[in-house]
Amino acid sequence: MPVTTSSAPGKIILFGEHAVVYGRPALAVPVTQVQATATVSENSRGGVMIEAPNINLSADLSSLPSDHPLVFVINSVFSTLKISNPPACTVYLQSTIPIASGLGSGAAVSVAIIRALSGFLGKPLPDEKVNLLAFEAEKLYHGTPSGIDNTVVTYAKPVYFILKKPIKTFHVGAPFTIMIGGTGISAPTKDSVGSVRKLWQADKPRWEKVFTRVGEIVWNARQAIERGDVAELGRLMDANHALLQEMTVSCVELDDLVEAARKSGALGAKLSGGGHGGNMIALVEKDNAPAVARALSSAGAKRTILTQVG
Ligand code: PMV
Repeated sequence: MPVTTSSAPGKIILFGEHAVVYGRPALAVPVTQVQATATVSENSRGGVMIEAPNINLSADLSSLPSDHPLVFVINSVFSTLKISNPPACTVYLQSTIPIASGLGSGAAVSVAIIRALSGFLGKPLPDEKVNLLAFEAEKLYHGTPSGIDNTVVTYAKPVYFILKKPIKTFHVGAPFTIMIGGTGISAPTKDSVGSVRKLWQADKPRWEKVFTRVGEIVWNARQAIERGDVAELGRLMDANHALLQEMTVSCVELDDLVEAARKSGALGAKLSGGGHGGNMIALVEKDNAPAVARALSSAGAKRTILTQVG
């Protein structure tokens, strides 16, 4: 069997995180500067091996718990393809996507494994199936995920996402530049989604209103992106961040980075993803990007990534 390799990009949520779990739209885009790569090859040792040096994992599939996300993904490929006796093979994983930081690392790893393994077995799965299997794995990482991460990562395109609705991509009227700033704080999305759920359960009418306001911002942002109105996009980012603060998913470190980005000339800034750590994003003009990156580093960013949308 030939060695098979597949890579999947990271992602960032531009607008609408958390409210998307409650049926409002969200916008997300792939980040190709970071990637997860899976390579599957035959081994002479027997059994199915997983090698993931990033997380210090080198083990036989059968020795790991079945709810381990990597084991779950591999087994879901075997069962989807009705393979009861898998051939001896090694699944080797490498990723430059920081873990638990809102860059879609879990989804990218799942998508890369599903594609590489199904290709290795001579039965490459179509995108819809890849997306579906990656979504099942997301539930292990995130509890009650909306499915936005696996969708953007599978299709590697900007996505206007609504829960359980057909996937819509959107047109980018004029390319724009996003600076991602990482707090270095690893914050599981499961926890922040759980904390917003508690707020919502305690006062549904209040939070439904907040989510609806987020949904309006997302809709306006999509239109601003389509007509290439970068200034409006910046304002909408700021407005979305304020609502995320109200949901108490921001933190001092994120707020400091958001503030530093704005002060150094970014057109707008907000946290991105689950919050309580992880990443923030700033809308920057290309010329001003180095100044924003410096300001973010001085304000405590552990890394910055520059990415272009469109
Ligand atoms: O933390 P991330 O980037 O994986 O994004 C989570 C986005 C949420 O809306 C908070 C949860 C979800 O599943 O959509």
